[in-house]
Amino acid sequence: MAEKLLLRALAGETLDVPPIWMMRQAGRYLPEYRATREQAGDFLSLCYNPELAAEVTLQPIRRYGFDAAILFADILLIPDALGADLWFVTGEGPRLSTIESVEDFAKLKGADDVHEHLAPVYETLRILSRELPKETALIGFAGAPWTVATYMIAGRGTPDQGPAHKLKAENRALFDAVIDRLTEATIGYLSAQIEAGAETVKLFDSWAGSLKGQDFDDYALAPAKRIIAALKEKHPDVPVIAFPREAGERYVGFAKATGADCVALDNSVDAAWAAEHVQVDGCVQGNLASSHMVTGGEALVTETRAIVEAFSQGPHIFNLGHGITPDANPENVQLMIDTVRRGY
Ligand code: CP3
Repeated sequence: MAEKLLLRALAGETLDVPPIWMMRQAGRYLPEYRATREQAGDFLSLCYNPELAAEVTLQPIRRYGFDAAILFADILLIPDALGADLWFVTGEGPRLSTIESVEDFAKLKGADDVHEHLAPVYETLRILSRELPKETALIGFAGAPWTVATYMIAGRGTPDQGPAHKLKAENRALFDAVIDRLTEATIGYLSAQIEAGAETVKLFDSWAGSLKGQDFDDYALAPAKRIIAALKEKHPDVPVIAFPREAGERYVGFAKATGADCVALDNSVDAAWAAEHVQVDGCVQGNLASSHMVTGGEALVTETRAIVEAFSQGPHIFNLGHGITPDANPENVQLMIDTVRRGY
C-alpha cells in the first residue's frame, strides 16, 4: 500500500536510494517563492491563503521533484489561533504578546477553539492532496509544546530561551499549564491535518537542546509521547517524525520513549554514531549542514555521500540538519539531489 518512497522509509524499509526532501524547501532562496510572497503581501497572509500556500508548497516539487512536500505554514500559527497576537518583523522574526502571569494565560482560548482560525491550513492540505504528483508524500507539522512555549512566553525568538526557563523555575504551575494547553491544541491540530490529507506529521522541537536532565524528560519527551499516543489512537497508520533538535546523546532512545516512527537529526550529530545508536531503533532523517547549500562544490558532494553511506544499512530519509537559509544557491540543492539519487 505504501508505495511512496518516503512512507516506505517511515515504515522501516531500507531503500537503495533514500527519499529526499528539505526543511524550509519552500522559502526565500527560491525566486518563485519571493514572487508569490510579494503577491500575498506578507508572510502570515501567505500562510492563511490556501491557494497561495499550496502554490509555494508545490514550487520546490515542480523544480526539484522532492519525494515529499511539507505543508507551507508556521509553528507559530497555534499561538496565533490561541489568541496570542502574532506578527513578523521583516529581517528580524516573529513577535507575539508575552506570557508573564496567570492573567496573560487566562486570555488564551481553549485547545479545542483553534480550528476555525486554522481552517485555511486544513484547506491548503486538501488542495495539496488533490494536486501533488502521486509519488510525492504530504507532510503536515506542528511545533512541539516546549519550542512553541519559548516563543509564547518571551514574545519573540531568544538565543537561550531564557524567559521560558525563568518562568519554569519561578512559576512551575503556570509553565505546566502553558505546556498542557499547547499539547492539547497540538493533538487536535495534527489530527485535523491528517484528516485533511497529511500522510505523515512532523513535530518540530527546535529548542529541545536547551532542556537538560529531568527537564528534557518532562518537557521534550513527555509532551511528544502524549501527542504521539493520542494521534496513534485515532490514526494508527500515520507515521510521526520527531525532531528534538540538538538533543545530542538524548537522541538515543528518543523514538522508543515517545513512539515516534522516525527521528530527525540535526547536523551536530555524527552520522556514523547516529547509525549505530539511533537508527537501530528505526528510521532516521537528516542530516547535511544547510551551509552546504550556500557553499556547494566538492565538500557538498563528499559530505552528502558520507551521510548516505553511513545510513545505508537501515531506513533513512535524506534531509538537511536544519532549514535551508535565504542565501542558499538553488543550484546547490540540485547538486545535493543528484548526489543522493545518482551518486555524483
Ligand atoms: O519547512 C517548510 O518549508 C515548511 C514551512 C515552515 C516554515 N516554518 C515556513 C517559514 C516550517 C516547517 C517552519 C517551522 C518553524 N517556524 C520553526 C521550526 C523549525 C526551525 O526552523 O527551527 C520555527 C522555530 C519557526 C518560527 C519562525 N518562522 C521563525 C523564528 C521565523 C523567522 C526566521 C526566518 O527564517 O525568517 C519564521 C519565518 C518563516 N517560517 C519563514 C518561512 C518560509 C520565512 C518568512 C519569510 O518568508 O519572510
